Amino acid sequence: MIESYVVVHNIAKRHNVGTLARSATAFGVSEMILVGRRDFNAFGSHGSTSHVNFRHFHSLSDARVFLKSKDCDICGVEITDNAVDVTQHPFKKSTAFLLGNEGMGLSAKECEICDFFVYIPQYGGGTASLNVTVAASIVLHHFGVWAGFSERTRDGNKYVVAERSARQPSGCSVY
Ligand SMILES: C[S@@+](CC[C@H](N)C(=O)[O-])C[C@H]1O[C@@H](n2cnc3c(N)ncnc32)[C@H](O)[C@@H]1O
Repeated sequence: MIESYVVVHNIAKRHNVGTLARSATAFGVSEMILVGRRDFNAFGSHGSTSHVNFRHFHSLSDARVFLKSKDCDICGVEITDNAVDVTQHPFKKSTAFLLGNEGMGLSAKECEICDFFVYIPQYGGGTASLNVTVAASIVLHHFGVWAGFSERTRDGNKYVVAERSARQPSGCSVY
């Protein structure tokens, strides 16, 4: 079964993690992997944090060991020379997406654990990059298309929200 993961390591604005969680559940992400800090702000999540599974690791290398045990590729999302256009869908199997810091982008240490990189082509000249949560959403959507995830049932103008609450990890705190 193909799965996707989002790795949160150095996201500075903790409310961006809440927004990431909303996109994660919308695009069928199996787990959000929090590395380092365990706490995040649910602002922006629109209640979706109870539908996302979170897992915590102390270090990037611990997270990598876990993801490799799941036979996952680790994909850095960044505008780098060696990044592949995400619209080419350069995916092979289950994939974990690592996004960069809002100010600095992906660090050298973060790049080291990545198997490959994707970038999102931009067409207008007004900004050097996208907001990190917007970038994550676009990439996760492309992955879902590639993986053939089933579209959720719609009811009128909305998607049907699941009943179940996700398992919350020990030690991850939402505020
Ligand atoms: C605001 S951007 C970081 C910009 C940073 N000033 C830099 O120059 O690297 C935050 C993160 O969003 C993602 N991102 C934003 N725009 C992107 C794009 N067009 N393609 C791929 N990733 C992008 C990357 O993960 C990036 O590290």
